[in-house]
Amino acid sequence: MPGSRAASTQTQCGSAFLPINTAPCAKVFQEINVRNIDSCSIDRFVDPAISRAMKTATQRMELREIEHSGVDYKAAVQLRDRLLRVPLGLTFAITDLAAEKADIHLAGFDTQGNLIACLVLSKTQAATTLRMRQVAVDSDAQRRGLGSQLVAYAESLAAARGYKLMTLHARQEVKNFYIQLGYTETGEPFNEVGIPHIAMQKNL
Ligand SMILES: CC(C)(COP(=O)(O)OP(=O)(O)OC[C@H]1O[C@@H](n2cnc3c(N)ncnc32)[C@H](O)[C@@H]1OP(=O)(O)O)[C@@H](O)C(=O)NCCC(=O)NCCS
Repeated sequence: MPGSRAASTQTQCGSAFLPINTAPCAKVFQEINVRNIDSCSIDRFVDPAISRAMKTATQRMELREIEHSGVDYKAAVQLRDRLLRVPLGLTFAITDLAAEKADIHLAGFDTQGNLIACLVLSKTQAATTLRMRQVAVDSDAQRRGLGSQLVAYAESLAAARGYKLMTLHARQEVKNFYIQLGYTETGEPFNEVGIPHIAMQKNL
């Protein structure tokens, strides 16, 4: 039956390249190499935004959940501080970091094991909504599709855990990064940490 064949292929395609339905903390090594990917299969079976992220990626990155308080978390905080706080003349307070204990922390590592990308997922008052925040990719690794891979990973993990909606506050200057991943604006611009932001969301 054509329908059942498609469903089976989708699972194989998803498990080969994306962390769909993977267990929490599973170590997922994504083979992101355009030449090794069957573009037709991707277009047929995965979300278009994820498909685009996979096709545009030009670098291998290991994606995984990291523990709050571990060495990887410290590296993630350093990256976030460098990219998201220091340029604004801000830094993280100990209480800010302690408040992240209940959050989900995701990170991407290069082939040498260096943490080069990270983000945080926070629970919200709505049981099936997560808020994505603190998305950062090392300056030397930007515009290679890694940020898109990381967000796609976060969405897959969130969906696998039953979440239905991802929300975020995008810095206005990088709004297009989220638009190309399928996020839509949900309100008027506002100021946060002293710079313009816009609320966005995506159904998972
Ligand atoms: C924003 C950020 C996470 C994007 O990560 P990235 O790995 O560079 O993004 P990708 O390579 O996956 O980008 C895919 C597409 O998103 C869009 N995009 C990416 N960065 C963008 C930016 N700074 N401004 C506008 N559009 C951007 C582009 O369309 C890009 O495609 P292109 O390179 O072919 O033009 C990264 O630039 C970063 O860490 N910036 C500093 C911290 C920050 O501002 N975080 C976001 C807070 S809301």
